[in-house]
Amino acid sequence: MPATATKTAPSLRGVNLVKTYGDGATRRTTLHNVSIDLHPGELVLLMGPSGSGKSTLLAVLSGLLEPDSGQVLAEDDGRLREVWHLTPKEREEYRRRHTGFVFQGYNLFPALTARQQLEIVLKWGGSLGSGEARHRADEMLDKLGLEKNKHKKPAQLSGGEKQRVAIARALVKNPNFVFADEPTSALDWENGQKVIELLRDAAHERRASILVVSHDHRLLPFVDVYYHLEDGHLERRSLDHKH
Ligand SMILES: Nc1ncnc2c1ncn2[C@@H]1O[C@H](COP(=O)(O)OP(=O)(O)OP(=O)(O)O)[C@@H](O)[C@H]1O
Ligand SMILES: [Mg+2]
Repeated sequence: MPATATKTAPSLRGVNLVKTYGDGATRRTTLHNVSIDLHPGELVLLMGPSGSGKSTLLAVLSGLLEPDSGQVLAEDDGRLREVWHLTPKEREEYRRRHTGFVFQGYNLFPALTARQQLEIVLKWGGSLGSGEARHRADEMLDKLGLEKNKHKKPAQLSGGEKQRVAIARALVKNPNFVFADEPTSALDWENGQKVIELLRDAAHERRASILVVSHDHRLLPFVDVYYHLEDGHLERRSLDHKH
């Protein structure tokens, strides 16, 4: 059931976000007053041409990149908090507890096996013991069809396998917010579909808010909300005209 049928208060709000890179002659505004609301239980797709600011917006919303102005309000223990007013330590704690991020370039640790990439996330901050962390890591790797790759390090994995490990790592904590930057770019359609279905389940069944950046129009039937970003301007598009 699309989450929009049971509209609730937003769990994450980006309000009038502005982000500029460079200075002097190279100064360029990448986000022009972008506002976006994410709701619990919604899978949101963000599309737009290369260089339009998609990764920048994900980084700002997830607490990785500070905007020049504007606010990011995220639900934490039942109230909305301004992510960029937290201390760096509080922001780190918020990100650890509540957010999962799939980076465009995967960002896996070269020295760790697939299983260890997930275990480290679960054990970080002392939240889970070793046995439970291993069990949860294996369960998530299985869901992504990686059961044969558990003991491999990134250099021994294909591009698509690395991408699936990165997705497993972002989802294994059951975070409230998931930011996925082109999570299916290296996958064939069978695996791409598996991934978007997993993301949809995380949204619909666990009430997570999930923001996915993609260039793949085949994802449109799976999502609840669709935004287009162009030259730093964000526009919500109807899912009726899917292109
Ligand atoms: N650290 C940086 N310093 C300077 N300019 C940057 C930096 N990061 C991004 N940019 C510029 O900001 C613009 C938006 O970049 P961004 O990575 O957000 O685009 P994108 O929509 O994710 O593109 P793609 O689809 O190619 O991943 C681009 O013109 C890029 O060159
Ligand atoms: Mg990008």
